[in-house]
Amino acid sequence: MKFYIATDHAGFNIKAKVIDILNKLGCEVVDLGPDNSDRVDYPDFAHKLCDEVLNDTGSFGVLICGTGIGMSLAANKHKGIRAALCHDAYTAQMAREHNDANVLCFGERVVGLGVIESICKAFVESSFEGGRHQNRVEKIEVD
Ligand code: RB5
Repeated sequence: MKFYIATDHAGFNIKAKVIDILNKLGCEVVDLGPDNSDRVDYPDFAHKLCDEVLNDTGSFGVLICGTGIGMSLAANKHKGIRAALCHDAYTAQMAREHNDANVLCFGERVVGLGVIESICKAFVESSFEGGRHQNRVEKIEVD
């Protein structure tokens, strides 16, 4: 699996560890920044990441801010992006199996490293089930 990752200043400190977690799960990870913990605006990085994911078929994204809320709100403005704010392994698993999420969001100020590891593992190791969920996912987008 190929991931793009981006954060704001409130998610920056955990970014290197998340890259390491994903690498150990066998994933390629492209870091879209930021390069330091200076204050930035989370929508700038959410939009940058979503453009990359949409232009790279089959790729996924990870967006981290303080709560994960701002990143998920901004990412879900993009047609074709299904960003899921996950708090544990169960929500991450369901995000893939039922919602076909292609962007994983979480908050550095909300979940600890152990939970983040379980979130990443569940997201990577789960697949979209299709079937009855396909039609529902297609109904998410509006013109
Ligand atoms: C930054 O202070 C914080 O507002 C941001 O990281 C995020 O949590 C917004 O949703």
